[in-house]
Amino acid sequence: MKAVQFTGYGEVSKSIKVSEIEKPIINKNEVLIETYAAGVNPLDIKVIEGDLKSVSTFKLPATLGYDISGVIIEKGEHVTDFNIGDEIFSKVKKQGTFTEFVAINKNLIGLKPKNISFEEAASLPLVGLTAIQALKRGKLKSSESILIHAGSGGVGSFAIQYAKSIGAYLYTTTSTENVKWVKELGADRVIDYKTVDYRAIVKDIDMVLDTLGNEFTEDAFKVIKNKGSVITLVGPVDAETANRMKLNKIIQLFLAFKRRKITKQIKLKSAFYSLLFMRDNAKQLHEIKELVATGKIKINIDKVFPLNETLNALLYVKKGHTKGKVVLKIK
Ligand SMILES: NC(=O)c1ccc[n+]([C@@H]2O[C@H](COP(=O)([O-])OP(=O)(O)OC[C@H]3O[C@@H](n4cnc5c(N)ncnc54)[C@H](OP(=O)(O)O)[C@@H]3O)[C@@H](O)[C@H]2O)c1
Repeated sequence: MKAVQFTGYGEVSKSIKVSEIEKPIINKNEVLIETYAAGVNPLDIKVIEGDLKSVSTFKLPATLGYDISGVIIEKGEHVTDFNIGDEIFSKVKKQGTFTEFVAINKNLIGLKPKNISFEEAASLPLVGLTAIQALKRGKLKSSESILIHAGSGGVGSFAIQYAKSIGAYLYTTTSTENVKWVKELGADRVIDYKTVDYRAIVKDIDMVLDTLGNEFTEDAFKVIKNKGSVITLVGPVDAETANRMKLNKIIQLFLAFKRRKITKQIKLKSAFYSLLFMRDNAKQLHEIKELVATGKIKINIDKVFPLNETLNALLYVKKGHTKGKVVLKIK
């Protein structure tokens, strides 16, 4: 079967190829999925460029991709909740969805929402789980306010609609051409980052979802109220996460040094700061299915590429201006 793999760490255009690999054999707890579509994420690029080498290692060449939608064509004897022919979507644990068939543990799949296409379903798992987990970690309530950076991106466009379903007041940032669309997603106040400095508008809010990092992480503390929350997807590792990862003393010291400015801000605002690493969660996949089925979450597919044009899909996502999501159509 065909698979898009990366062969070494480095520049995306020099590191991927289309390979012929063996079709997987499932174990008792797995299903075999015929892949219909696979979502493309900035994470796929970070993996190729070696940004995650310290936390995740791959035996190369390795098949790319985390998001998938497709149909169950075989199941292991311990799989009782799903049947052959079921249409599913999933975010797999160890990457490998840019291929025609994928073996997935039964605990990582959810039934695909019936009212959307396979391409739309494949765009949802990673960003949907991230947005849900981030807003839950920040304990966002209906009476509260949030700033979601990059509202037109994969995570941002889901998070806006999810925050709206909670009932929160929400600010978001995007560029001029996406202002109207992002407003339609449910943002109360859309700030065009090309013309306006959001720090002049957003004040005393309860939570920031930081999808951009660098100065955006530090500045988040300037717009939250005392005891507010900053949940980052890309900022420095917080002390609690570093402890949980059981990192050695030298790495802990290095991370503490890297977040020194943030530590100062946390103290000044008595704030809650956390770096989220999204996790697989079948219960939340079901929550996504319900949100989509009831029309609370709508999906915007920016571009669809065939599997043999994966490189173009990755280079497009790497530009950082995706409107919604980019997907590979595999069947
Ligand atoms: N830690 C985790 O578990 C986790 C999980 C998911 C994602 N992430 C990370 O979170 C980041 C966002 O992910 P994503 O999938 O949402 O990315 P994405 O879809 O590629 O985001 C693209 C969007 O960012 C917007 N953008 C770019 N610069 C901006 C700026 N200065 N201000 C406001 N918006 C800006 C663009 O809007 P315009 O075109 O209008 O500029 C575009 O719509 C990535 O770095 C990703 O790797 C981490």
